[in-house]
Amino acid sequence: MPLWRQNLVKSLHKTRSVPESRYFQLATANQEGIPFCRTVVHRGLTDDNSLIVISDTRTEKYQQLVQNNRCHIAWYFAKTREQYRFHCLADISTKEESPDLVEAQWDKLSDAGKKQFLWGTPGTPRNGESALHVEGDYNTIPAHFCVLTLNIETVDYLNLRGNPQNREWHEKNEHGDWVSQSLIP
Ligand SMILES: Cc1cc2nc3c(=O)[nH]c(=O)nc-3n(C[C@H](O)[C@H](O)[C@H](O)COP(=O)(O)O)c2cc1C
Repeated sequence: MPLWRQNLVKSLHKTRSVPESRYFQLATANQEGIPFCRTVVHRGLTDDNSLIVISDTRTEKYQQLVQNNRCHIAWYFAKTREQYRFHCLADISTKEESPDLVEAQWDKLSDAGKKQFLWGTPGTPRNGESALHVEGDYNTIPAHFCVLTLNIETVDYLNLRGNPQNREWHEKNEHGDWVSQSLIP
């Protein structure tokens, strides 16, 4: 297991009682190269070092990732004072492409979580009524529900604990093995 992954597993374990430690910032760029950043929920880490996020194909991040699947993640664990920054390549799946993966993520959602995918199109104007209209049912996965598999290419780790602080760069060498280098923070 790569060193950075051992660290990340420890960070997740040490912060398991802190719900905010499951949120990270995901940055993408549009066609003009203008950056967009938003908070998403960590839904898992696959055996081949991809982070799992769920989303909606009707959002801007989807459009941006279809045009350019390079993305960047910043993830700070306040309790352990550690920051991870990942360069990733995103792979997008709907139920059409990867029914098993998508179904597994849909099934893990609470009804309240599913409901958010059954309102209208994200980012479009909202009509006057205070309650939002739900279309569809919780047992049918909407076509716009998607899973982002974010394959990690590089890791920039910073630990603010200690004097001096500790920063490590991790990348794959030409054989595909992870190599690490300590950096001046
Ligand atoms: C704590 C928190 C968690 C969120 N988790 C997700 C998520 O897992 N997936 C997602 O698509 N949006 C999530 N959002 C909403 C996004 O931050 C964003 O507002 C929305 O996806 C639209 O972004 P876009 O227009 O850049 O695509 C979350 C927001 C917050 C504040």
